[in-house]
Amino acid sequence: MDVLGKNFKVFIERQEALKKQYSSKNAEKQHSKGKLTAHERINLLFDSGTFEEIDAFVTPASQPVEFGKVERTYGDGVIVGHGKINGRLIFAYAQDFTIMGGSLGLVHSKKITKIQEMALKMGAPIIGLMDSGGARIQEGVASLSGYASIFQNIISSSGIIPQISVIMGPAAGGAVYSPALTDFVFMVNHTSYMFVTGPNVVKEVLNEDVTSDGLGGAEVHARKSGVANMIYDDEENTILALKKFLSYLPSNNVENPPVVAEDGSIPAYNEKLRDIVPDDPNKAYDVKDVINQVVDRNSFFEISELSEPVS
Ligand code: HXC
Repeated sequence: MDVLGKNFKVFIERQEALKKQYSSKNAEKQHSKGKLTAHERINLLFDSGTFEEIDAFVTPASQPVEFGKVERTYGDGVIVGHGKINGRLIFAYAQDFTIMGGSLGLVHSKKITKIQEMALKMGAPIIGLMDSGGARIQEGVASLSGYASIFQNIISSSGIIPQISVIMGPAAGGAVYSPALTDFVFMVNHTSYMFVTGPNVVKEVLNEDVTSDGLGGAEVHARKSGVANMIYDDEENTILALKKFLSYLPSNNVENPPVVAEDGSIPAYNEKLRDIVPDDPNKAYDVKDVINQVVDRNSFFEISELSEPVS
């Protein structure tokens, strides 16, 4: 019996099915909303050819209660794996909104918890690229228990490895709690949202008209709630900024941050500092002018720059 041949044929068939799943029709749907696909995001984020996807062929759990149709897709709406970013080991998951709205079913959640646990074991940062309608309604409480495990893992990894969330579409319902528990949150302006439920549900339940931006857009979370630390105008710039940001972080709590060569832009004795800080203590000055004199040129990466004082 040609066992190897048979297994290989199944593997090829599954790969073909996966390719079909990520059809150009699905990609166009994402692009028409100003969003990239989960694959395109992963490809942009990781050094070329380094990303190793795991559990690509798993399928959704059969639901205990018949709430509605679960699409029998490979991967269950999330890509998980590890690779290199600027040469450093990083773990990531990327939710695929084109599969049941990136909603989280039991298998989807198990993929995320697996990669979280791998990141902790290896002492490497983990990045979540979020694009999800929250708990998968069709799977009922099974998806809720999945969230409990994800939240628990975030807490267990807190202070040990960097955990970063990048909101690249809706993060609704259960999908919005976990980013808020992580260390840093990036959002894309006008295409990403963090809210407990979307404007259509708000209209249906409360009969209130709200826009996605007004309910939980990037500006709201960067300026008012303080949940978003960094916001950018499109996904490409968000990912570029994220890669730069990572270069400041150690991989875990026992490693030192990456060392870079001194660029020579900071003189040993800087007279400009004397002119920036006024002698009169009642006179205001911009402390960023001081910071930019003491750190390497163009190296200051501000966190929560847009955050407004609580009124
Ligand atoms: C299953 C979902 C889904 C969900 C969206 N979809 N959310 N399927 N479970 N939670 C599906 C839609 O049915 C649709 O399928 C496809 O995803 C795209 O959704 P659209 O509504 O067409 O997209 P859009 O207009 O961009 O709106 C996206 C959205 C909206 C804002 C996320 O779908 C929305 O408000 N969804 C409900 C969000 C919500 O209330 N989640 C809470 C779940 S309970 P088709 O087949 O039509 O393409 C929860 C509790 C957690 O999370 C508690 C944790 C402890």
